[in-house]
Amino acid sequence: MTSSGPSSGALALLIRGGTDNWSNERWKARFTTACPGRPIVQVPEEGFDAASISYAAVWKPRPGELAGFPNLKVIFNLGAGVDAVLADTQMPNVPLVRVAVDDLTQRMTEYIVMHVLMHHRQQSYLAGCQQHKQWKPTQQWAAGAVRVGLLGLGVLGRDAADVLTRLGFRVAGWSNSPKTMPGIECYAGAAGLRPFLARTDILVCLLPLTPDTRHILNRPLFAQLAKDGPLGGPILINAGRGGLQNEADILSCLEDGTLNAATLDVFETEPLPVTSPLWTHPRVTISPHNAADTDADAISIYVARQIADFERGLPLANVVDRSRGY
Ligand code: NAP
Ligand code: GLV
Repeated sequence: MTSSGPSSGALALLIRGGTDNWSNERWKARFTTACPGRPIVQVPEEGFDAASISYAAVWKPRPGELAGFPNLKVIFNLGAGVDAVLADTQMPNVPLVRVAVDDLTQRMTEYIVMHVLMHHRQQSYLAGCQQHKQWKPTQQWAAGAVRVGLLGLGVLGRDAADVLTRLGFRVAGWSNSPKTMPGIECYAGAAGLRPFLARTDILVCLLPLTPDTRHILNRPLFAQLAKDGPLGGPILINAGRGGLQNEADILSCLEDGTLNAATLDVFETEPLPVTSPLWTHPRVTISPHNAADTDADAISIYVARQIADFERGLPLANVVDRSRGY
């Protein structure tokens, strides 16, 4: 690798938002351990030399920020979804790598499986009964009676599909390109969407947010979901991105029965405004975009390994295809 000066090869951290678990101090400590000897610059840091930055590890960087590093070689997005980075029209034309690590995948699968089971096992109904000290068992179906459909069969969708299949659910998935997965009905492209929806009782969205998928979760789509399932109506679980959903449509579809219930981890505006009727809707379950709140240890080690490979001339893994947007 060519060097542009004695302090070249520095890794800049541009991390905005996130939870306590994602504090800047935590990230800096983790990257300092994972990349021994490499200067780690927490941007903005007083007096740092922008020309020394070879790598950037980012989460929701400000538009134009990355363009300030003239010798940037690789951008590492600290999450799986790259929509926030791709929204930066001045982003340098260097490889953009996203996160695909077991730690994140397993957390997402926990979230999806938990919420599929909560709906399937009628947990809201049982919690309501407990609150009123009512012993009122209701009919419980076998997992094999319930059809789960995953929008997105990527790293996350495939793992969730696999675990749900092993639990006995009838699982299908929808993707851009055709796939074959044992035990899973695979649908692809525009032509595959209608038959996929028509056989789905619980719709799980794990799509990336791209120009093609923005607001895909809307009334016309919900209206195509199966109406003959055992759960009293279609259920939506969205852990992809808020921009995938039309929240006004979700609310009106919950009112007229087009949807029976929804679990939402992501929102058009985050944090979800206190004025949103989603907060108090009796059939909406909300989590604060933490379905898969990835661990800084796992990601810093992943990024450090990729930098080491890159500097040895090996290919980077999980490079985003900018033309597809994911
Ligand atoms: P991925 O591996 O890139 O998979 C994306 C899947 O979506 C692929 O199967 C792809 O089809 C499919 N797809 C994309 N555009 C499509 C379209 N227009 N029509 C049909 N299928 C389409 O991504 P991932 O790692 O599974 O992550 C998915 C998303 O989850 C991320 O982009 C992020 O937004 C979200 N996420 C959320 C959280 C959270 O905490 N809530 C955490 C992590 C990730 P092909 O397979 O044919 O390419
Ligand atoms: C979180 O939302 C991620 O994209 O990793």
